[in-house]
Amino acid sequence: MKIAVIGSGYVGLVTGTCLAENGNEVLCVDIDNNKVEQMKAGIVPIYEPHLDVLFERNIEAGRLSFTTDLNEGLDFGEVIFLALPTPENGDGSADLKYVLSVAEEIGKYITSYKVIVDKSTVPVGTAERVRATIAKACKTEFDVVSNPEFLREGFAVDDFLKPERIVIGSSSARATEVMQRLYQPFVRSGNPILIMDEKSAELTKYASNSFLATKITFMNEIANYCEKVGADVDKVRIGMGTDSRIGKRFLFPGIGYGGSCFPKDVKALHKSGKDINYDFKILDAVVQVNDKQKTILYPKISSFFDDDLKGKTIAIWGLAFKPETDDIREAPALYMIDKFLEAGAHVKAFDPEAMENVKQKYGDQIALGKDMYDVTKGADALLICTEWSIFRTPDYKRLKSNLRNPIIFDGRNLYPVLELAKEGIHYISIGRQNV
Ligand code: UDX
Repeated sequence: MKIAVIGSGYVGLVTGTCLAENGNEVLCVDIDNNKVEQMKAGIVPIYEPHLDVLFERNIEAGRLSFTTDLNEGLDFGEVIFLALPTPENGDGSADLKYVLSVAEEIGKYITSYKVIVDKSTVPVGTAERVRATIAKACKTEFDVVSNPEFLREGFAVDDFLKPERIVIGSSSARATEVMQRLYQPFVRSGNPILIMDEKSAELTKYASNSFLATKITFMNEIANYCEKVGADVDKVRIGMGTDSRIGKRFLFPGIGYGGSCFPKDVKALHKSGKDINYDFKILDAVVQVNDKQKTILYPKISSFFDDDLKGKTIAIWGLAFKPETDDIREAPALYMIDKFLEAGAHVKAFDPEAMENVKQKYGDQIALGKDMYDVTKGADALLICTEWSIFRTPDYKRLKSNLRNPIIFDGRNLYPVLELAKEGIHYISIGRQNV
């Protein structure tokens, strides 16, 4: 099939590349000329495991190409994916200006039947608005379908190529047939392509992300409570997770969820409820608890230094909002860095992928180290913010001799408490006993 993907951000690039990998011809459109030139030269503008290999292979095979010309994309594709940003407005709602302005262009320009696919995360009712916007000036038949993505950063290629489910919101048999043909090769294992109305498809995305964010937040509250009553959240987590109705995944407590999806989507669903006088109380609580969770370790660190962090050096391992990404959007590490700088402390940080992004944000305000041990030399404490695999089995002896005080504050519960006690390292984690 010939496909145009409008918007070469994270979702657009993964979608375009993976559709090309399955034999489709894909033209990716983006208004950013620099990015398009970069991509034409075979450079992937984001870090995502395995994407580079697929990208190169499909460009070479002539199945994946790039342009800044929207009309070229509209001429090219039988199916037009909209993978445009839907940033958060000041009031928490999703801003649809990019989606609707492209819809307007589509309406003015297309002259033959196209399936327009909403891939962006958009509020309930957006497919209807996109359809109405296109219809204003359109002289040909077209269909709009909703096809939300469920890609995890760090696993996006795998999630796209082997999805647990594909959700398609469509009210047109013709468009449904096109979408089924497009996605059939990805679900040969038997996973379902779920066809539903557009509104239900749009809500499935928000409800899934909000549920997962709620699950994590619930566990974070249980962890905080464990600390108060002397229980161990790791034991509680396993005790709960082995009940198949609860499930083992997304029960890991920590210093809060971040990223480009959960924070934005929970707020957007809450706001769209408010707009129709429905008060999603649970989502309001999730946002508040998560904001607090991001700073939960700070008072403990501060009190370890008698509430005087001035001149102290804090080493940080992990800056990305989660492992296997360079994305620092809403990353808990940023909240901690801001707090330390406010208190007059020095920060020395290391992350396997996210340091360039952090450098752009903080410039010379913080120091970045060449490896994980480098930043601990002479530091007064170590704080772990992201659970990269490389941090899981450190050389404790080396750490102990590098640090001025043998203390680790762990926002991701990486180490067995007793092991650290044996090594003579003070260890403060989340929802477990301190040693
Ligand atoms: C998420 C959804 O999983 C994906 O389906 C959707 O399309 C986009 O949003 P992503 O933001 O890439 O994907 O990350 P994910 O792996 O889901 O983690 C989200 C956040 O939750 C991270 O900050 C992570 O550290 C946190 N988390 C996750 C926990 O704190 N505990 C857990 O047990 C799991």
